[in-house]
Amino acid sequence: MKKVLLLNGPNLNLLGTREPTQYGNTTLADVETQFVQAAARMGWDAECFQSNWEGALIDKIHEYGQWFKVGQAVGVVFNPGAFTHTSIALHDAIKGVDGLPVIETHISNVHAREEFRHRSWVSPVAAGIVVGFGVDGYLLALEGLHRIHQRSVS
Ligand code: DQA
Repeated sequence: MKKVLLLNGPNLNLLGTREPTQYGNTTLADVETQFVQAAARMGWDAECFQSNWEGALIDKIHEYGQWFKVGQAVGVVFNPGAFTHTSIALHDAIKGVDGLPVIETHISNVHAREEFRHRSWVSPVAAGIVVGFGVDGYLLALEGLHRIHQRSVS
């Protein structure tokens, strides 16, 4: 079974209680359960990982870069949280693993919010971007990854 990673960055462990008007009431555990189930329907084995540490997120991207290279992973659905707007290291990590499809996902519409959220260092190296659909965005991103994978094998 091929692997797919749901990767969440800083403060997303607080989903459900953090700024509910912005991010909703669904917890990260609920998001992860839905993601694992949807991935299983696609025939994929989902791993879910959240960290508040930039380096831990980078290590996961490197790991999945290796899995992707040997055909054992299909890609990553990634909400980098606030690191989106600051992290050249995450940009370089995604660029560095060359080919691993990463779908950048944001729960809120970052473009309708403060100016500092309009810039993403991840977008230029993402295979696709999903923004502003609430937590449904994670499943939409998974669907996008599925289409990218289907294209690559047909
Ligand atoms: C976020 C948007 C970011 O600007 C913010 O720092 C987050 C969450 C989102 O999912 O909408 O932590 O990535």
